[in-house]
Amino acid sequence: MNDILVHKTIDFFQQTFKSEPEKIVLSPGRINIIGEHIDYNDGFVLPAAIDKIICFAFEKNNSDRAKIVAIDLNDEFEVYINEDQNQTDNVWTNYLRGVLNQLKKNGYTVEGFNCVFSSNIPVGSGLSSSAALECGFLFGLNELFNLKIKPIDIALMGQKAEHWVGINCGIMDQFSSVMGLENKVIKIDCRTLEFEHHDANFSDYSLVLFDSNVKHSLFSSAYNTRREECDEGLSIISANFPEITSFRDCKEEQVLSLKDKMTANVFKRSLFVVKEIRRVTQACEALDVGDIVVLGQLMFETHEGLSVDYEVSCAELDFLVNTVKKEKSVIGSRLMGGGFGGCTINLIKKGQEDAVKNKLTGLYQDAFGIELKIYDVKIGNGTSLYIAK
Ligand code: GLA
Repeated sequence: MNDILVHKTIDFFQQTFKSEPEKIVLSPGRINIIGEHIDYNDGFVLPAAIDKIICFAFEKNNSDRAKIVAIDLNDEFEVYINEDQNQTDNVWTNYLRGVLNQLKKNGYTVEGFNCVFSSNIPVGSGLSSSAALECGFLFGLNELFNLKIKPIDIALMGQKAEHWVGINCGIMDQFSSVMGLENKVIKIDCRTLEFEHHDANFSDYSLVLFDSNVKHSLFSSAYNTRREECDEGLSIISANFPEITSFRDCKEEQVLSLKDKMTANVFKRSLFVVKEIRRVTQACEALDVGDIVVLGQLMFETHEGLSVDYEVSCAELDFLVNTVKKEKSVIGSRLMGGGFGGCTINLIKKGQEDAVKNKLTGLYQDAFGIELKIYDVKIGNGTSLYIAK
């Protein structure tokens, strides 16, 4: 599938610019096994890059302008690369403008270039197509102009670009897009940015994504509000337990003891965060020893927490999780990513995938009148240069 995407991108580039691209870059979306909404709370997360990608083709154009074409959107824009970039109404361009600003801010100089890109990452499904866009674009410019930016800084600058667009996100998405490895999940310590790759061996179970096919507009405002609520929670915790400066060092009993000092929402958010940090450690240990039943149980618990305490679920996602929970062949399921729509991630007994998919498709259609989209997950490499076979 990705070969088709690469050829389409190269063909389009050749037709548009009448030349061969100098660099071709593949940049993936991501899944997350467990550890939601804790990348910005000093927690651990367990994501992986997937085989759904954006393909970029680049060349220098010996001018002071960048011309960038989004093949799938049938849209393009042009900028003077030495100028500061401003936000526009054309949102997809802002991610790339944000990256150009980051380069300038960090003292990197680029010259004029042409770029085209095309994607097979579903947009708005919680698979981080925006992180793939930021990181793939920056990775390509790094290669084209030999800027010597380190991979971790590509992720961090991509994250800053996302903040500039308006979502005060953590580091998980950009980190996984850059650092992914085939068949490995990445355990990221979001406090230190240290990371380990662990085998993505789910034994007798397959990873399947069910895409609710909805994206509620609440997402960005609610996301930013959750961050503020967590900041408030942590400041109350620190005021009462001065030795605690991070959710990482906080115990559940300590949050419970402060219930009367917090608003109901701040209390629920803080409790979720502390529990979720613990769950990731347990889940990673379970994965390492092949205890997929425990891993699945933790995923169900995460969903419950995200729905009831963190309040980032929605009727469609709750339906998808609660429906498969009744199936013996599904041992784990939860909403994945920021919430308010997008996908659930599921562990389904091998051989039973089709039965579950068919049943859920019908039930979801009956309940919401919406078509369920389904993706079988393959864990792939992080952002890299395409090498023709
Ligand atoms: C979005 C953000 C990430 C992370 C997740 C929730 O994907 O971009 O940084 O916070 O939501 O875990």
